[in-house]
Amino acid sequence: MPQVAMASRSVASLLACVVSVVLLLSTSSRAFDTGAHSDLTRNSLNLYGYSRDAQHMGAFSNWLTDLYAFSPSMVAGLDVVPDYVAELETFHCNNLYSIVFGANYMARFTLNTIDAVKDAVRRGAILEYLAILGTSLHVYQDFYAHSNWASIKSRSRCDCYEMTSTFFDSLTLANGSVEAMVTLEPEYLGFITYSYGGRGYPHYNIFSANVEHGGYCEGTNSDSYVRPKFESTYSYAFAGSMEWIYNYERWAADASFVARAKSWTAGNFTAELYRDFNASFEVSYASTQLYFGESDGHWKGPGSGDTSTFAVSTARLSTDNQDPYQQLYLRNATPPVWSLLATPPLYSFLNTSTNSDGDVVADTASLRSTVGNFTSFRSLPGNYTNLTAVVVRTTSYNLSDDYTKLIGGKPSPWALISIDGLEFMDAPMQDTQTWTPFWTAIKFVPIQSTAVQIQYQLVTTADSSNWGKTVPIAPGDGILNVTFNTRTNTLSGDATGVHDTFATALSSSANGSQVTIYVDSRPLTCASAPNATGVVTFCDNTAYGELGSFPTCEASTLPPLGQSGGSSTRWLWTHSLLCACIYLLFIHV
Ligand SMILES: *[C@@H]1O[C@H](CO)[C@@H](O)[C@H](O)[C@H]1NC(C)=O
Ligand SMILES: *[C@@H]1O[C@H](CO)[C@@H](O)[C@H](O)[C@H]1NC(C)=O
Ligand SMILES: *[C@@H]1O[C@H](CO)[C@@H](O)[C@H](O)[C@H]1NC(C)=O
Ligand SMILES: *[C@@H]1O[C@H](CO)[C@@H](O)[C@H](O)[C@H]1NC(C)=O
Ligand SMILES: *[C@@H]1O[C@H](CO)[C@@H](O)[C@H](O)[C@H]1NC(C)=O
Ligand SMILES: *[C@@H]1O[C@H](CO)[C@@H](O)[C@H](O)[C@H]1NC(C)=O
Ligand SMILES: *[C@@H]1O[C@H](CO)[C@@H](O)[C@H](O)[C@H]1NC(C)=O
Ligand SMILES: *[C@@H]1O[C@H](CO)[C@@H](O)[C@H](O)[C@H]1NC(C)=O
Ligand SMILES: *[C@@H]1O[C@H](CO)[C@@H](O)[C@H](O)[C@H]1NC(C)=O
Ligand SMILES: *[C@@H]1O[C@H](CO)[C@@H](O)[C@H](O)[C@H]1NC(C)=O
Ligand SMILES: *[C@@H]1O[C@H](CO)[C@@H](O)[C@H](O)[C@H]1NC(C)=O
Repeated sequence: MPQVAMASRSVASLLACVVSVVLLLSTSSRAFDTGAHSDLTRNSLNLYGYSRDAQHMGAFSNWLTDLYAFSPSMVAGLDVVPDYVAELETFHCNNLYSIVFGANYMARFTLNTIDAVKDAVRRGAILEYLAILGTSLHVYQDFYAHSNWASIKSRSRCDCYEMTSTFFDSLTLANGSVEAMVTLEPEYLGFITYSYGGRGYPHYNIFSANVEHGGYCEGTNSDSYVRPKFESTYSYAFAGSMEWIYNYERWAADASFVARAKSWTAGNFTAELYRDFNASFEVSYASTQLYFGESDGHWKGPGSGDTSTFAVSTARLSTDNQDPYQQLYLRNATPPVWSLLATPPLYSFLNTSTNSDGDVVADTASLRSTVGNFTSFRSLPGNYTNLTAVVVRTTSYNLSDDYTKLIGGKPSPWALISIDGLEFMDAPMQDTQTWTPFWTAIKFVPIQSTAVQIQYQLVTTADSSNWGKTVPIAPGDGILNVTFNTRTNTLSGDATGVHDTFATALSSSANGSQVTIYVDSRPLTCASAPNATGVVTFCDNTAYGELGSFPTCEASTLPPLGQSGGSSTRWLWTHSLLCACIYLLFIHV
């Protein structure tokens, strides 16, 4: 028995290492902050009636698409390049240099997904159906997050998201012809996704890294709420997610199977599912500047990095590596769950669709099949498009000295916000007793909802990995509980009245601790015509609008994080872990 335990422990630590090594080196390849992917995925699955467990499974598999996608090149010539990793690397819409590249890539991906979902249905594999759904949503979300989409589709007003046409709307309108698409909407001539290069394995970066992703303070990305155009990008990725799920269910072509998938429960592996999900939050938020260079934290904005949480959560994730969810992605699943998504390779158009000059041309056959198999956003039933965002924005928090002392003097608060039953976690602000955070929770709900339930809980993480304690900020149980009417933006319950702008934020407090928040609604599509004069870069009532300042990004900079004591010990311990990991990687792979 002890030997068995030892053996599985060493496998566990190996996988912990794979996970941490993989994560540590993926800095400039991020899509959205991982938290945004999680929110988009659970929100859209929720609107399609997927169970709570299915939503979390979708979000976790979406996250694994990032986690397992990148492998290190620690030392020149010593690349650790398992094939399965290289395949996942192609799932992020990188290096699409024009709308022709973008259309070819998405067409290939769509047809591959059709095959993959049909295969899962044929095998009666519900868990795989959900995992492929989560992974394929990631790819399509990245199409918006990794491109300049929100810049070429400029928004002209702030009172609604002005979702005009998704990629598939335009492709469908043009009947699958990219040429016609550009004629109808010339702005697509400017389409590009960022380049990704520099690793020691195939990355399809044929024109070198000419458009870098950038970080929280610069670059082409709009994929964190600390960036301009974040909300426009998010609204497209959300509309795209709604569109994708609708089609995915139709491709499955088996209503009773889809109904079973929607009511899936994790059964005997429920605890593992939520531990995995919690780890996706903790590992992401706790990733640190030490490894990522430019920023602390990759859940939602900077300021949340924490080396000891990172190490502990990574190890915890790895101890669950034999659970059914991680096994779908790890190498000993044969074949791994995404393999049909990568067959044929998504970039094969670079070989097959070129003219005599070697330029990439439209893959006409794939594009035709795609359009023939796709119902685009504007043709979906109204209950999937007629939606409004409920935006819960925190403009400041302040923990009492008493509370701060109670938890040992180093509070790292974050907001856990439930909007109509869906939970949103904001990034912990490490060792920061009072602050003006970027925290913004966005949930799309049916338009004209009159009674959206919102519970706002302020939580502190302690000095290690855990979900912490509630900081009371309202009377009674300490949690602010309100009902929100999206027609009038009125709150009732623990707070009352209209508080829907930065200027009219409400303050809620208990025992000396306090938060200020506002709650607004913003329809996905606008009821009236676009603003003929305006082009919006950011709106005042968004985190960036309120705190941002071009171009130096002062607002993205938290107060000095030097207070975190014991950092050199942590540094040592995390580095030792990392070295052990790399060692294990080489001897085991
Ligand atoms: C949305 O509308 C479609 C078509 O009217 C219907 O089949 C579907 O059940 C509705 N979905 C939800 C979640 O209400
Ligand atoms: C769309 O293209 C297909 C060929 O791909 C053609 O058969 C069909 O007539 C076209 N439809 C329209 C409305 O142009
Ligand atoms: C759950 O575990 C119990 C006990 O090991 C087993 O009898 C049961 O079949 C399992 N249920 C499922 C759905 O796997
Ligand atoms: C995950 O986090 C939630 C929220 O704090 C907590 O209630 C739950 O117990 C955690 N689940 C597991 C399995 O750790
Ligand atoms: C192009 O074809 C070559 C030879 O078959 C292959 O090695 C390469 O991976 C292909 N490239 C892409 C992007 O599919
Ligand atoms: C749907 O896609 C398949 C390939 O996956 C293709 O054979 C078929 O013709 C497409 N259907 C339509 C209506 O275009
Ligand atoms: C969207 O909702 C509005 C308000 O309830 C309604 O007037 C409109 O008909 C709806 N549109 C669709 C497509 O369902
Ligand atoms: C505030 O502090 C008092 C005294 O310690 C305690 O009884 C009360 O429960 C606290 N209120 C909240 C909302 O936690
Ligand atoms: C919040 O308030 C609503 C209505 O006032 C009530 O029905 C609900 O139980 C409360 N929820 C919690 C978690 O306290
Ligand atoms: C936080 O609250 C304390 C006492 O409640 C107050 O003295 C302090 O000025 C507040 N800090 C900020 C930044 O508002
Ligand atoms: C329309 O654009 C103008 C100029 O940018 C701006 O001042 C105005 O607020 C915009 N209107 C709306 C409804 O956003």
